[in-house]
This record gives sequence, C-alpha cells and structure tokens, in this order.
Amino acid sequence: MTEEDQFTSKGFVPQFYIKDGQIRSVEKDRHTEAQACLEHKKLIHIVGGGFNQIPLVQKAKQMGYCVLVTDMNVNPPCKEYADYYEQIDTTNKQATLSCAEKYKIDYITTDQTDVAVPTVAFIAEKLNLVGIGYNTALKFTNKYVMRSALKGKLDEHIPESHYFDNEREAENFCKGLSELSEYVVKPINSQGSKGVTILDHRYKQMLATAFRESIGRGIIIEKYISGFEFSVESFVKDEKVYNITLTKKYHYNTNPCLDERNTFLGDIDLLLEKKIFDVNTKVIKTLGLPFGNTHAEYKVKDGNIYLMEIAARGAGGSISSHIIPFLTGFDPLKALLKTLTGQPFEVKIQDYKKKYAVLKFFNFPPGKVKKTYIDKNLASNVLVFNLDLKEGDNINPVKDSRDRPGYFIVCGNDRDDVLRKEKMIESFVQVEYFERSLAVSQHS
Ligand SMILES: Nc1ncnc2c1ncn2[C@@H]1O[C@H](COP(=O)(O)OP(=O)(O)O)[C@@H](O)[C@H]1O
Ligand SMILES: [Mg+2]
Repeated sequence: MTEEDQFTSKGFVPQFYIKDGQIRSVEKDRHTEAQACLEHKKLIHIVGGGFNQIPLVQKAKQMGYCVLVTDMNVNPPCKEYADYYEQIDTTNKQATLSCAEKYKIDYITTDQTDVAVPTVAFIAEKLNLVGIGYNTALKFTNKYVMRSALKGKLDEHIPESHYFDNEREAENFCKGLSELSEYVVKPINSQGSKGVTILDHRYKQMLATAFRESIGRGIIIEKYISGFEFSVESFVKDEKVYNITLTKKYHYNTNPCLDERNTFLGDIDLLLEKKIFDVNTKVIKTLGLPFGNTHAEYKVKDGNIYLMEIAARGAGGSISSHIIPFLTGFDPLKALLKTLTGQPFEVKIQDYKKKYAVLKFFNFPPGKVKKTYIDKNLASNVLVFNLDLKEGDNINPVKDSRDRPGYFIVCGNDRDDVLRKEKMIESFVQVEYFERSLAVSQHS
C-alpha cells in the first residue's frame, strides 16, 4: 500500500488516509475562510492540537464557529483543521492568555488533554468567559489537591496517600516501609502513567523518575489497590451529573499501571455499576464541577471502590469523540460546546450496554522498526485507527503512554462480532524489524 492509498468508509466510520505510515482521519471542513471568520463568527480557542483534539476542532467548525488552536508543536495534527494557529506551550498560561487577548476570543476549551485544563480555566477566569474556575481545574488535575479536597468527606474511597515535595523525605518514608510493593508512586500532575509505578528495591530511581515527571511539583506515594480497574465517563450540566459509560480496563502483562485494552462489552454486574456511578457522582459534587465532561478511574477491591483519579475533560483514546457517541447517541463534544456557548439542550443518553466497543492499544514486541504492513481491509472495520510508526522508530517496553505506538477501536451491535473484529484488526497490522530487542527492565 502506498502513501497515496486512500479509502473511504461508510456509515459512522470516518475516512482515513495514510501519511508518514499513519492512517489519519481526513474529513476536513473547508467551508470557512479565515476572513469570514473574523467578521461574522464567534471565535473558539482550543488549547492543545494533538490527534485526539481533531474531533473537537471539527465539531466547533461544524457548529459554525471559527477556531484558534494553540499547541507547543510547530505542526500539530489540528493545525490544518483550524482557522488560526499559534505555536504556544499548552502549559504556558501567560503566553496562552496573551494570544487569547490578541485574537479577542469568545470561548476557550479543550478535550482529552489534562495539561490544558488549568490553562483553559485560568484564561476563562481572566477574560470573564465561561469556565469551570481555576481552583476547580486544579482539583481535577493535581492529585494532591484532589485528595485533599476529598479528605474528610469521601475517605473510604481514597487509598492511603502521602504527599512529598522533597525527594529525600520520600526516600526516608520508603526506607520505613516493611513492604515496598504495597505502594505505588506517582507525580501529582501528570497523565498517561508517566512516572507511575509500584515500588520495589529500586525505589530511589523510581522516586527520582516520578519527581522528574512532576517537573518538581511533587509526588504521592499511596497504597497500591489490587483488584479490577474501571473508568467512568460523565457529563455535568447545571451541576447535575449524568453518568454515561463504565469501562473495564485491562493492563499490560508487563505493566500493571498502564492499560492496554478498554472494553464496553456489557459484562459488568449492574449492582457494581450502580455503586461506582454513585461514588463518581459524589466525587464530582464534592470537587464542585459546574459543567463539562469528566473521566475517572476507580479500582475495586473486596467490594470497596477506590478513586485513582478524576479529570475534568473527555477521555483519551477517542472515547469522548467516538466511543460515547456510538454507544449512547450522546455527543460529549457537542454538549460541551453548547454549554460553553449558552445554547439550550437536553442531555439524552441511551444505555451504553446495548452496543459494544473495544479500544485496544497495540502491543508490539520491542525492537527497531523496518516497515509496517497494514491490510487495506482495515479501514472498513475500525471506528478509529491511529498508528505512529515509521522506519527507524524504536518500540520500547511499555513504561507509560509514550511507549504505546497507537490504538484502534472496533464497535458494533453484536458482542461476538466486535471481539472477532478486534482479533482481525490485530492480524491486519504487521511490523517488520531491523532487529528485535531483548526484553529489558522497565526501569533501566
Ligand atoms: N493507588 C493505586 N493502586 C493501584 N493502582 C494504581 C494506583 N494509582 C495508580 N494506579 C494505576 O496506575 C494507573 C495510572 O495512575 P493515575 O493515577 O491514573 O495516573 P495518570 O494521571 O498518569 O493516568 C492507574 O490507572 C492505575 O491502573
Ligand atoms: Mg489515569
């Protein structure tokens, strides 16, 4: 298959194309000229321009808005879909604010990107735009602030947790632990399991990595909760929480702190679902989110539900943009944009258990990539496919989300058919190696 190969798909499945060895969504909204934007349309500033934000940019355009995107990269995937683009680090609040002022934006938002959440809230507050509030944003992004805000209110749902802003003190704490493997370390403000690991005798190195990933802001060491992990997606409107979906999360065999597979297969006990949804509602109400999408992760041990973290944004891996609309008919991005722009709407969510979906991250053996082969029948069988592998790339053992080269989503009305498609898609993607790496330690 050449780079020019292009194929279209029917129905709900978006179009794809291959560039730099990747199949990308190709639907580009071309109807708006930049000039027309300035004169007639309200301007939405979308912070973060990665692949997963393309649907939000497209949705804003479809709804008749003009879009400004800011992102740290020179040429991020959203750039070609936006009316205006400025290269600004998403975490740089002041520079993003100056840009927002220069463009006289009307609204500001993001989806699927944790680091953008406080920036968006900060600017909304400064410019008197609709936002969740900077303090609320911190409760949904900084795990220490999150735990502190829930302390004394939902203690039974929070693992025992210790905050450190000093590496030496964290080391001393670890020295005093009788069983290191009962604890996990994580940066207070990260995403994608970066620096998250169960402690062992290499704890000094693990703490140092977590501190580095926190960019000096600090870490928490908390009780490792064994048991199954679930995630919950919800939408909040006028402070009312609508729980949308419950996902089962399966982790990599080699890394219990990183998920490899997220399933929506109608196989969760209804009582457990209700219990988790109830806890989720309490968490969101306690943290005080006024509106918007949430993505939360819980582990269940001996029937008790423990919060891992909750974010005030849509779930990554195209869950908010593709899986939820497919399963429930509810469009989290449209709902977000309507809320921001003050358009009335009703939240209507169909039962997610009537349809099925699997989100699977590729798990190729480590090594140096020579070539990737993709069967052309792939496009008509996936809802989303994103693979970022080209000649010379190294596939590493999976430490965190940066080591996952891509993912795909399969979905349908028949459970067995979805499972069959999952296997089929995996067989459709083959990697040829220059050389295969011997298994190396995750912490080397
Ligand atoms: N206390 C814990 N007990 C068990 N597993 C945990 C714990 N904390 C984190 N994990 C595992 O590590 C993953 C990543 O941690 P998380 O807190 O979600 O950080 P991130 O913001 O990087 O996603 C979780 O989804 C969970 O699988
Ligand atoms: Mg997480």
